[in-house]
Amino acid sequence: MQGVPDVNPFVYSRPVAPEDVLDREPEIRQLLSLAAGGHFVRLYAPRRFGKTSLLRKTLAEAERSRELVPVLVDLYGVLSYADVTIRIERAYAQLGGPIRRTIESILRTSGLGLSLGAPGISVKLQLEPRTDPLPALHALLDLPQRVAERSGKRVLVALDEFQDIGKVQDFDKLLRSHIQHQGESASYIFSGSEPGMMRELFDVKGRPLYGQAEPLRLGRLPEADVAAYVEERFARTKRSAAPMLDALLATAQGHPQRAMLLAHRLWDELAPRQTANEDDWQTALARTRAQVAPEFDALWRGLEANEQRALRAIALFPEAPYGARALGAVDLKKSGAHYAVRSLREKGELEEEGGRAVFVDPLFELWLRDVQGGTPSGDDAPV
Ligand SMILES: Nc1ncnc2c1ncn2[C@@H]1O[C@H](COP(=O)(O)OP(=O)(O)O)[C@@H](O)[C@H]1O
Ligand SMILES: [Mg+2]
Repeated sequence: MQGVPDVNPFVYSRPVAPEDVLDREPEIRQLLSLAAGGHFVRLYAPRRFGKTSLLRKTLAEAERSRELVPVLVDLYGVLSYADVTIRIERAYAQLGGPIRRTIESILRTSGLGLSLGAPGISVKLQLEPRTDPLPALHALLDLPQRVAERSGKRVLVALDEFQDIGKVQDFDKLLRSHIQHQGESASYIFSGSEPGMMRELFDVKGRPLYGQAEPLRLGRLPEADVAAYVEERFARTKRSAAPMLDALLATAQGHPQRAMLLAHRLWDELAPRQTANEDDWQTALARTRAQVAPEFDALWRGLEANEQRALRAIALFPEAPYGARALGAVDLKKSGAHYAVRSLREKGELEEEGGRAVFVDPLFELWLRDVQGGTPSGDDAPV
Protein backbone atom coordinates (compact mmCIF):
# COMPACT_ATOMS: atom_id res chain seq x y z
CA MET A 1 0.00 0.00 0.00
CA GLN A 2 1.28 3.44 -0.76
CA GLY A 3 1.72 5.96 1.98
CA VAL A 4 2.20 3.30 4.64
CA PRO A 5 5.58 3.91 6.26
CA ASP A 6 7.97 0.98 6.18
CA VAL A 7 8.26 0.42 9.93
CA ASN A 8 9.62 -2.62 11.72
CA PRO A 9 6.50 -4.31 13.16
CA PHE A 10 8.26 -6.09 16.04
CA VAL A 11 8.41 -4.37 19.40
CA TYR A 12 10.95 -5.76 21.83
CA SER A 13 11.99 -2.94 24.14
CA ARG A 14 8.73 -1.95 25.78
CA PRO A 15 5.37 -3.48 26.59
CA VAL A 16 3.34 -4.16 23.45
CA ALA A 17 0.06 -2.40 22.73
CA PRO A 18 -3.08 -4.39 23.65
CA GLU A 19 -3.89 -5.12 19.99
CA ASP A 20 -0.39 -6.58 19.49
CA VAL A 21 -0.50 -9.00 22.39
CA LEU A 22 -0.19 -12.56 21.14
CA ASP A 23 -2.24 -15.26 22.93
CA ARG A 24 -2.77 -14.80 26.68
CA GLU A 25 -6.55 -14.84 26.23
CA PRO A 26 -7.11 -17.49 28.92
CA GLU A 27 -4.97 -15.48 31.33
CA ILE A 28 -6.90 -12.30 30.59
CA ARG A 29 -10.24 -14.06 31.11
CA GLN A 30 -9.01 -15.54 34.35
CA LEU A 31 -7.69 -12.23 35.65
CA LEU A 32 -10.94 -10.47 34.81
CA SER A 33 -13.12 -13.11 36.34
CA LEU A 34 -11.08 -13.24 39.54
CA ALA A 35 -11.16 -9.44 39.65
CA ALA A 36 -14.92 -9.38 39.22
CA GLY A 37 -15.20 -11.77 42.16
CA GLY A 38 -13.05 -9.55 44.35
CA HIS A 39 -10.16 -11.99 44.45
CA PHE A 40 -6.49 -11.13 44.63
CA VAL A 41 -4.08 -12.65 42.14
CA ARG A 42 -0.34 -12.91 42.08
CA LEU A 43 0.93 -13.03 38.54
CA TYR A 44 4.32 -14.52 38.11
CA ALA A 45 6.58 -14.77 35.07
CA PRO A 46 10.27 -14.24 34.41
CA ARG A 47 11.35 -10.81 33.23
CA ARG A 48 10.22 -10.00 29.67
CA PHE A 49 7.60 -12.71 29.45
CA GLY A 50 4.92 -10.10 28.85
CA LYS A 51 3.51 -9.30 32.28
CA THR A 52 3.15 -5.57 31.75
CA SER A 53 1.71 -6.09 28.26
CA LEU A 54 -0.79 -8.54 29.71
CA LEU A 55 -1.73 -6.20 32.55
CA ARG A 56 -2.31 -3.32 30.16
CA LYS A 57 -4.54 -5.39 27.93
CA THR A 58 -6.44 -6.79 30.90
CA LEU A 59 -6.99 -3.31 32.32
CA ALA A 60 -8.02 -1.94 28.93
CA GLU A 61 -10.69 -4.64 28.75
CA ALA A 62 -11.72 -4.00 32.33
CA GLU A 63 -12.21 -0.36 31.47
CA ARG A 64 -14.24 -1.20 28.38
CA SER A 65 -16.57 -3.34 30.49
CA ARG A 66 -17.42 -0.11 32.37
CA GLU A 67 -17.67 -2.05 35.59
CA LEU A 68 -14.11 -1.73 36.77
CA VAL A 69 -11.85 1.25 37.26
CA PRO A 70 -8.37 0.18 36.07
CA VAL A 71 -5.27 1.40 37.89
CA LEU A 72 -1.78 0.26 36.88
CA VAL A 73 0.93 1.05 39.42
CA ASP A 74 4.55 0.60 38.37
CA LEU A 75 6.62 -0.20 41.46
CA TYR A 76 9.88 -0.71 39.59
CA GLY A 77 12.80 0.34 41.76
CA VAL A 78 10.85 1.79 44.70
CA LEU A 79 12.93 2.22 47.83
CA SER A 80 10.77 4.21 50.21
CA TYR A 81 7.24 5.10 51.25
CA ALA A 82 7.65 8.38 49.39
CA ASP A 83 8.44 6.45 46.17
CA VAL A 84 5.40 4.22 46.58
CA THR A 85 3.17 7.21 47.27
CA ILE A 86 4.35 8.97 44.13
CA ARG A 87 3.86 5.86 42.00
CA ILE A 88 0.31 5.31 43.18
CA GLU A 89 -0.65 8.93 42.68
CA ARG A 90 0.86 8.77 39.21
CA ALA A 91 -1.15 5.64 38.42
CA TYR A 92 -4.46 7.31 39.27
CA ALA A 93 -3.36 10.35 37.26
CA GLN A 94 -3.55 8.20 34.11
CA LEU A 95 -7.31 7.96 34.42
CA GLY A 96 -9.59 10.07 32.28
CA GLY A 97 -13.30 10.62 31.93
CA PRO A 98 -15.86 11.21 34.66
CA ILE A 99 -14.10 8.93 37.15
CA ARG A 100 -11.14 11.29 37.08
CA ARG A 101 -13.30 14.14 38.31
CA THR A 102 -14.70 11.93 41.05
CA ILE A 103 -11.21 11.04 42.22
CA GLU A 104 -9.98 14.63 42.00
CA SER A 105 -12.76 15.73 44.26
CA ILE A 106 -12.08 12.96 46.79
CA LEU A 107 -8.39 13.88 46.87
CA ARG A 108 -9.06 17.57 47.17
CA THR A 109 -11.08 17.07 50.32
CA SER A 110 -8.25 15.06 51.88
CA GLY A 111 -6.19 18.26 52.14
CA LEU A 112 -2.96 16.29 51.81
CA GLY A 113 -1.67 17.85 48.62
CA LEU A 114 -2.74 14.89 46.52
CA SER A 115 -3.83 15.68 42.99
CA LEU A 116 -4.08 14.03 39.60
CA GLY A 117 -2.86 17.21 37.93
CA ALA A 118 0.66 18.58 37.71
CA PRO A 119 1.33 19.78 41.27
CA GLY A 120 0.54 16.53 43.08
CA ILE A 121 2.20 14.85 46.00
CA SER A 122 5.31 14.15 43.88
CA VAL A 123 6.05 17.86 43.67
CA LYS A 124 5.31 18.39 47.33
CA LEU A 125 7.63 15.55 48.34
CA GLN A 126 10.35 16.93 46.11
CA LEU A 127 10.05 20.49 47.30
CA GLU A 128 9.69 19.54 50.94
CA PRO A 129 11.59 16.28 51.28
CA ARG A 130 10.87 16.10 54.97
CA THR A 131 7.12 15.83 54.39
CA ASP A 132 5.83 12.60 55.93
CA PRO A 133 4.42 10.61 52.99
CA LEU A 134 2.38 8.28 55.21
CA PRO A 135 -0.85 10.30 55.47
CA ALA A 136 -0.93 10.65 51.69
CA LEU A 137 -0.12 6.98 51.23
CA HIS A 138 -2.94 5.97 53.57
CA ALA A 139 -5.32 8.19 51.65
CA LEU A 140 -4.24 6.66 48.33
CA LEU A 141 -4.58 3.12 49.62
CA ASP A 142 -8.05 4.03 50.86
CA LEU A 143 -9.03 5.50 47.55
CA PRO A 144 -10.62 2.36 46.04
CA GLN A 145 -13.16 2.30 48.84
CA ARG A 146 -14.02 5.98 48.39
CA VAL A 147 -14.24 5.54 44.61
CA ALA A 148 -16.51 2.53 44.98
CA GLU A 149 -18.78 4.41 47.38
CA ARG A 150 -19.14 7.31 45.00
CA SER A 151 -19.22 5.58 41.64
CA GLY A 152 -20.54 2.13 42.43
CA LYS A 153 -17.62 0.69 40.49
CA ARG A 154 -15.00 -1.74 41.68
CA VAL A 155 -11.38 -0.61 41.33
CA LEU A 156 -8.93 -3.07 39.79
CA VAL A 157 -5.44 -2.24 41.02
CA ALA A 158 -2.51 -3.93 39.31
CA LEU A 159 0.76 -3.57 41.19
CA ASP A 160 3.49 -4.24 38.62
CA GLU A 161 7.06 -5.13 39.67
CA PHE A 162 5.59 -5.93 43.04
CA GLN A 163 8.70 -7.74 44.27
CA ASP A 164 10.45 -4.38 44.54
CA ILE A 165 8.36 -3.50 47.61
CA GLY A 166 10.61 -5.96 49.41
CA LYS A 167 12.95 -3.00 49.83
CA VAL A 168 10.30 -0.85 51.54
CA GLN A 169 10.12 -1.96 55.13
CA ASP A 170 6.70 -3.31 56.13
CA PHE A 171 4.90 -1.94 53.10
CA ASP A 172 3.20 -5.30 52.70
CA LYS A 173 1.86 -4.93 56.22
CA LEU A 174 0.51 -1.47 55.51
CA LEU A 175 -1.02 -2.62 52.24
CA ARG A 176 -2.65 -5.59 53.91
CA SER A 177 -4.22 -3.37 56.57
CA HIS A 178 -6.04 -1.50 53.80
CA ILE A 179 -6.92 -4.14 51.29
CA GLN A 180 -8.35 -6.58 53.80
CA HIS A 181 -11.34 -4.28 54.11
CA GLN A 182 -11.78 -3.79 50.39
CA GLY A 183 -13.39 -7.05 49.39
CA GLU A 184 -16.41 -5.16 48.08
CA SER A 185 -14.58 -2.23 46.52
CA ALA A 186 -11.28 -3.37 45.04
CA SER A 187 -9.44 -6.26 43.45
CA TYR A 188 -5.68 -6.55 43.29
CA ILE A 189 -3.17 -8.13 40.93
CA PHE A 190 0.36 -8.42 42.26
CA SER A 191 2.74 -8.94 39.37
CA GLY A 192 6.34 -9.90 39.82
CA SER A 193 9.33 -11.53 38.17
CA GLU A 194 11.51 -12.72 40.99
CA PRO A 195 10.33 -16.11 42.20
CA GLY A 196 12.36 -15.89 45.40
CA MET A 197 11.00 -12.52 46.43
CA MET A 198 7.42 -13.34 45.43
CA ARG A 199 7.60 -16.52 47.49
CA GLU A 200 8.99 -14.58 50.39
CA LEU A 201 6.05 -12.17 50.24
CA PHE A 202 3.22 -14.66 49.68
CA ASP A 203 4.35 -18.11 50.79
CA VAL A 204 6.06 -17.49 54.10
CA LYS A 205 3.81 -18.04 57.09
CA GLY A 206 3.39 -14.95 59.19
CA ARG A 207 4.00 -12.56 56.29
CA PRO A 208 1.11 -10.08 55.94
CA LEU A 209 0.16 -11.28 52.46
CA TYR A 210 0.65 -14.97 53.21
CA GLY A 211 -1.87 -17.05 51.30
CA GLN A 212 -3.71 -13.92 50.18
CA ALA A 213 -3.54 -14.26 46.43
CA GLU A 214 -4.37 -16.83 43.81
CA PRO A 215 -1.20 -17.72 41.86
CA LEU A 216 -1.18 -17.34 38.07
CA ARG A 217 1.86 -18.20 36.00
CA LEU A 218 2.65 -16.81 32.59
CA GLY A 219 4.54 -19.32 30.48
CA ARG A 220 6.37 -19.35 27.18
CA LEU A 221 4.50 -18.74 23.94
CA PRO A 222 3.62 -21.79 21.80
CA GLU A 223 5.83 -22.03 18.70
CA ALA A 224 2.93 -22.33 16.27
CA ASP A 225 1.41 -19.10 17.57
CA VAL A 226 4.72 -17.24 17.42
CA ALA A 227 5.20 -18.54 13.87
CA ALA A 228 1.80 -17.27 12.72
CA TYR A 229 2.33 -13.90 14.41
CA VAL A 230 5.78 -13.40 12.88
CA GLU A 231 4.68 -14.55 9.42
CA GLU A 232 1.66 -12.31 9.46
CA ARG A 233 3.75 -9.25 10.33
CA PHE A 234 6.38 -9.98 7.71
CA ALA A 235 3.63 -10.48 5.13
CA ARG A 236 1.86 -7.29 6.16
CA THR A 237 5.08 -5.37 5.50
CA LYS A 238 5.74 -7.17 2.18
CA ARG A 239 8.47 -9.49 3.34
CA SER A 240 8.79 -13.16 4.19
CA ALA A 241 10.64 -14.98 6.94
CA ALA A 242 9.36 -18.40 5.89
CA PRO A 243 12.62 -20.25 5.09
CA MET A 244 14.24 -19.10 8.33
CA LEU A 245 11.24 -19.30 10.62
CA ASP A 246 12.18 -22.69 12.07
CA ALA A 247 15.64 -21.42 12.96
CA LEU A 248 14.13 -18.40 14.66
CA LEU A 249 11.66 -20.49 16.65
CA ALA A 250 14.36 -22.95 17.70
CA THR A 251 16.55 -20.11 18.93
CA ALA A 252 13.79 -18.22 20.76
CA GLN A 253 12.36 -21.31 22.50
CA GLY A 254 9.07 -19.62 23.19
CA HIS A 255 10.67 -16.78 25.16
CA PRO A 256 8.32 -13.92 24.25
CA GLN A 257 10.78 -11.05 24.15
CA ARG A 258 13.57 -13.08 22.56
CA ALA A 259 11.21 -14.18 19.79
CA MET A 260 10.27 -10.57 19.06
CA LEU A 261 13.86 -9.36 19.24
CA LEU A 262 15.02 -12.02 16.77
CA ALA A 263 12.10 -11.26 14.46
CA HIS A 264 12.92 -7.56 14.68
CA ARG A 265 16.57 -8.13 13.73
CA LEU A 266 15.66 -10.50 10.89
CA TRP A 267 13.13 -8.03 9.50
CA ASP A 268 15.83 -5.37 9.57
CA GLU A 269 17.96 -7.44 7.20
CA LEU A 270 15.32 -7.42 4.48
CA ALA A 271 14.28 -4.88 1.91
CA PRO A 272 10.61 -4.80 0.87
CA ARG A 273 9.57 -7.82 -1.21
CA GLN A 274 12.55 -9.84 0.00
CA THR A 275 12.50 -13.31 1.53
CA ALA A 276 14.92 -14.17 4.32
CA ASN A 277 17.77 -16.54 3.49
CA GLU A 278 20.41 -18.24 5.60
CA ASP A 279 22.80 -15.26 5.34
CA ASP A 280 20.12 -12.86 6.53
CA TRP A 281 19.38 -15.10 9.47
CA GLN A 282 23.04 -15.50 10.44
CA THR A 283 23.58 -11.75 10.27
CA ALA A 284 20.43 -11.09 12.31
CA LEU A 285 21.49 -13.65 14.90
CA ALA A 286 25.00 -12.21 15.14
CA ARG A 287 23.58 -8.71 15.57
CA THR A 288 21.17 -9.91 18.22
CA ARG A 289 23.95 -11.60 20.12
CA ALA A 290 26.15 -8.53 19.95
CA GLN A 291 23.26 -6.43 21.18
CA VAL A 292 22.60 -8.58 24.26
CA ALA A 293 26.22 -9.44 25.16
CA PRO A 294 26.81 -6.44 27.48
CA GLU A 295 23.71 -7.37 29.47
CA PHE A 296 24.93 -10.94 29.97
CA ASP A 297 28.38 -9.74 30.83
CA ALA A 298 26.94 -7.57 33.62
CA LEU A 299 24.65 -10.38 34.78
CA TRP A 300 27.56 -12.82 34.83
CA ARG A 301 29.71 -10.53 36.91
CA GLY A 302 26.97 -10.22 39.50
CA LEU A 303 26.76 -13.98 40.12
CA GLU A 304 28.50 -16.06 42.77
CA ALA A 305 31.35 -18.29 41.58
CA ASN A 306 29.34 -21.47 42.20
CA GLU A 307 26.38 -20.03 40.31
CA GLN A 308 28.70 -19.37 37.40
CA ARG A 309 30.01 -22.92 37.63
CA ALA A 310 26.51 -24.39 37.70
CA LEU A 311 25.40 -22.34 34.70
CA ARG A 312 28.45 -23.37 32.78
CA ALA A 313 27.79 -27.03 33.60
CA ILE A 314 24.20 -26.73 32.38
CA ALA A 315 25.19 -24.87 29.21
CA LEU A 316 27.98 -27.24 28.28
CA PHE A 317 26.48 -30.51 29.52
CA PRO A 318 22.72 -29.95 29.27
CA GLU A 319 21.99 -33.68 29.35
CA ALA A 320 23.89 -34.39 32.56
CA PRO A 321 24.89 -31.20 34.35
CA TYR A 322 25.27 -33.05 37.66
CA GLY A 323 27.33 -35.87 36.17
CA ALA A 324 30.89 -36.43 37.28
CA ARG A 325 32.19 -35.18 33.94
CA ALA A 326 30.28 -31.91 34.02
CA LEU A 327 30.99 -31.17 37.66
CA GLY A 328 34.65 -32.07 37.20
CA ALA A 329 34.91 -29.80 34.18
CA VAL A 330 33.59 -26.80 36.09
CA ASP A 331 35.18 -27.71 39.41
CA LEU A 332 31.97 -27.91 41.39
CA LYS A 333 30.75 -30.28 44.11
CA LYS A 334 27.30 -31.82 43.83
CA SER A 335 26.02 -30.10 46.97
CA GLY A 336 27.35 -26.78 45.73
CA ALA A 337 25.63 -27.36 42.40
CA HIS A 338 22.23 -27.98 44.00
CA TYR A 339 22.54 -24.92 46.16
CA ALA A 340 23.60 -22.74 43.23
CA VAL A 341 20.79 -24.03 41.01
CA ARG A 342 18.24 -23.28 43.68
CA SER A 343 19.51 -19.74 44.03
CA LEU A 344 19.50 -19.24 40.24
CA ARG A 345 15.88 -20.37 40.17
CA GLU A 346 15.02 -17.90 42.90
CA LYS A 347 16.57 -15.19 40.75
CA GLY A 348 14.63 -16.29 37.68
CA GLU A 349 17.65 -17.24 35.57
CA LEU A 350 16.85 -20.93 35.56
CA GLU A 351 13.53 -22.72 35.69
CA GLU A 352 12.49 -26.30 36.08
CA GLU A 353 11.18 -28.12 33.06
CA GLY A 354 10.51 -31.83 33.03
CA GLY A 355 12.59 -32.30 36.16
CA ARG A 356 15.56 -30.47 34.67
CA ALA A 357 16.95 -27.02 35.28
CA VAL A 358 16.85 -25.07 32.02
CA PHE A 359 17.79 -21.54 31.09
CA VAL A 360 14.92 -19.07 31.14
CA ASP A 361 16.68 -17.01 28.47
CA PRO A 362 17.89 -19.00 25.46
CA LEU A 363 20.24 -16.21 24.41
CA PHE A 364 21.99 -16.31 27.77
CA GLU A 365 22.63 -20.00 27.21
CA LEU A 366 24.01 -19.30 23.72
CA TRP A 367 26.25 -16.57 25.06
CA LEU A 368 27.58 -18.84 27.75
CA ARG A 369 28.26 -21.71 25.37
CA ASP A 370 30.02 -19.43 23.03
CA VAL A 371 32.20 -17.61 25.48
CA GLN A 372 32.88 -20.64 27.63
CA GLY A 373 32.88 -23.39 25.12
CA GLY A 374 36.40 -22.79 23.90
CA THR A 375 35.60 -20.28 21.18
CA PRO A 376 38.39 -17.73 21.45
CA SER A 377 36.61 -14.63 22.63
CA GLY A 378 37.49 -11.01 22.71
CA ASP A 379 36.21 -8.28 24.92
CA ASP A 380 33.12 -10.04 26.11
CA ALA A 381 34.97 -12.91 27.79
CA PRO A 382 33.69 -13.25 31.31
CA VAL A 383 36.52 -13.30 33.79
N1 LIG B 1 1.92 -11.71 24.39
C1 LIG B 1 2.92 -11.11 23.72
N2 LIG B 1 2.80 -10.84 22.40
C2 LIG B 1 3.80 -10.24 21.74
N3 LIG B 1 4.97 -9.88 22.30
C3 LIG B 1 5.15 -10.15 23.59
C4 LIG B 1 4.13 -10.74 24.38
N4 LIG B 1 4.59 -10.88 25.63
C5 LIG B 1 5.82 -10.35 25.64
N5 LIG B 1 6.18 -9.91 24.43
C6 LIG B 1 7.50 -9.35 24.07
O1 LIG B 1 8.23 -9.20 25.27
C7 LIG B 1 8.61 -7.84 25.47
C8 LIG B 1 8.50 -7.52 26.94
O2 LIG B 1 7.14 -7.47 27.34
P1 LIG B 1 6.71 -6.88 28.76
O3 LIG B 1 5.24 -6.87 28.79
O4 LIG B 1 7.42 -5.59 28.98
O5 LIG B 1 7.30 -8.02 29.73
P2 LIG B 1 7.49 -8.02 31.31
O6 LIG B 1 6.59 -6.97 31.88
O7 LIG B 1 7.13 -9.41 31.74
O8 LIG B 1 8.94 -7.74 31.56
C9 LIG B 1 7.73 -7.02 24.56
O9 LIG B 1 8.41 -5.87 24.09
C10 LIG B 1 7.47 -7.99 23.42
O10 LIG B 1 8.56 -7.97 22.53
MG1 LIG C 1 7.09 -5.31 33.00
